[in-house]
Amino acid sequence: MAPPSPILLIFCLSLLAAASTISEATSAHDELVKYGFPVGLLPADIESYALNHTSGAFSVRLGGKCRVTLPPDNYLASYSKRITGKIVGNRIAELDGISVRAFFKWWGITGIKSSGQDLVFEVGMLTAKYPSNNFNVSPPCEGRRASSS
Ligand SMILES: *[C@@H]1O[C@H](CO)[C@@H](O)[C@H](O)[C@H]1NC(C)=O
Repeated sequence: MAPPSPILLIFCLSLLAAASTISEATSAHDELVKYGFPVGLLPADIESYALNHTSGAFSVRLGGKCRVTLPPDNYLASYSKRITGKIVGNRIAELDGISVRAFFKWWGITGIKSSGQDLVFEVGMLTAKYPSNNFNVSPPCEGRRASSS
């Protein structure tokens, strides 16, 4: 077999470089949008994330626990340091790490479905529907200093 030509080699190297630039620039928020979800499902301050494009399994690391107030009913939501789940099509399943305060209790959100203009939040067998555009902005974590302003 002939050795690879230098041109081909350079071409491949630049492809590799381009690919790694793209994956660095992609954020967890971008991934949400690609799957048809609004960015506001995740707080603004994300440390890192991993997504397996084959299985849809993901994990998101926030620097620490995070509390946000969700529109429109001002529900208090709490995010764990690490959020995991599976994103397939228009549905986030097996969600772990996000809970909301309602009726004097914390409820773990187990799934989120994007359905037309609405998001359907699942808490076990219960569901609640909200317009997606309530979540067009990533909320900042409360009580944490912004890293840049
Ligand atoms: C991604 O998911 C597929 C299917 O479950 C699995 O075979 C593969 O090992 C996973 N890749 C990584 C990097 O975890």
